[in-house]
Amino acid sequence: MTTPEAYSHFRETLEYIRRYFTGEVEVGIVLGTGLGRLAEAIEKEHQLAYNFIPHFPISTVESHFGRLIFGRLGGKRVVAMQGRFHYYEGYSMYQITYPIRIMKLLGAHTLLLSNAAGAVNLSYQMGDLMIIRDHINLLPENPLRGINLDQLGPRFPDMSAPYHPELIQKARAIAQRLQVPLHEGVYAAVSGPNLETRAEYRYLRIIGADVVGMSTVPECIVANHMGMRVFAMSIITDIGDPDNLRPVSLEEIIHVANQAEPKLTQIFTELIRSL
Ligand code: HPA
Repeated sequence: MTTPEAYSHFRETLEYIRRYFTGEVEVGIVLGTGLGRLAEAIEKEHQLAYNFIPHFPISTVESHFGRLIFGRLGGKRVVAMQGRFHYYEGYSMYQITYPIRIMKLLGAHTLLLSNAAGAVNLSYQMGDLMIIRDHINLLPENPLRGINLDQLGPRFPDMSAPYHPELIQKARAIAQRLQVPLHEGVYAAVSGPNLETRAEYRYLRIIGADVVGMSTVPECIVANHMGMRVFAMSIITDIGDPDNLRPVSLEEIIHVANQAEPKLTQIFTELIRSL
């Protein structure tokens, strides 16, 4: 929950980061499960391990690295999270979205999010990419609960277009030029860590989701709260077909995400270049 101490936390975190990195950043990037190698495309200027940054949670998932990378991508100054925080790891929503607050306070006006997700739209295939056009928040808690940080954004942020239409339009054009097929759809966020039952996949389809995952939505909400422009993309790592469901493992999810990652890297890089 957000408390008045948030402002002093931010100040301490920024003081630490500014000891190592004094430049401005324009774009924040969050790399999802199996997607950490996008960081290799960044011309790195500085890296900070999460566990040394005051008030940063420590990443517990092995598939995530746990560092903040400062550098250039697509000719712009970026800060990337190699490894994100999930609700299922036990973090509070405040902790999960804390780095997004810091990105904005470092100057980032735009946020690019990536994730691995399961398809409930059965026309999708493993390894496909999907632009997130909208989301359904099924997480049990909201990152804006608690006092409102009035200096950062309004009490009741508008969510009529949480994913910026202009960025979606640009990404669509870039993917066409690169001949990368893309879906556009709705992401439903669940807490996990278990995958869904057949009945749950069926339910998600009925309520209007195209994919389901365990991240992204809290970060998107907090970024919208602060007036950042958000763009997000999912890699389809498994198919939640209720009538034909087979077990999936984290290893498979990571493998599929790794395979599809170069496409995502290309689109993110070109999208950043176009900003
Ligand atoms: N469900 C929830 N989260 C996921 C899935 C899924 O099928 N695949 C990857 N992340």
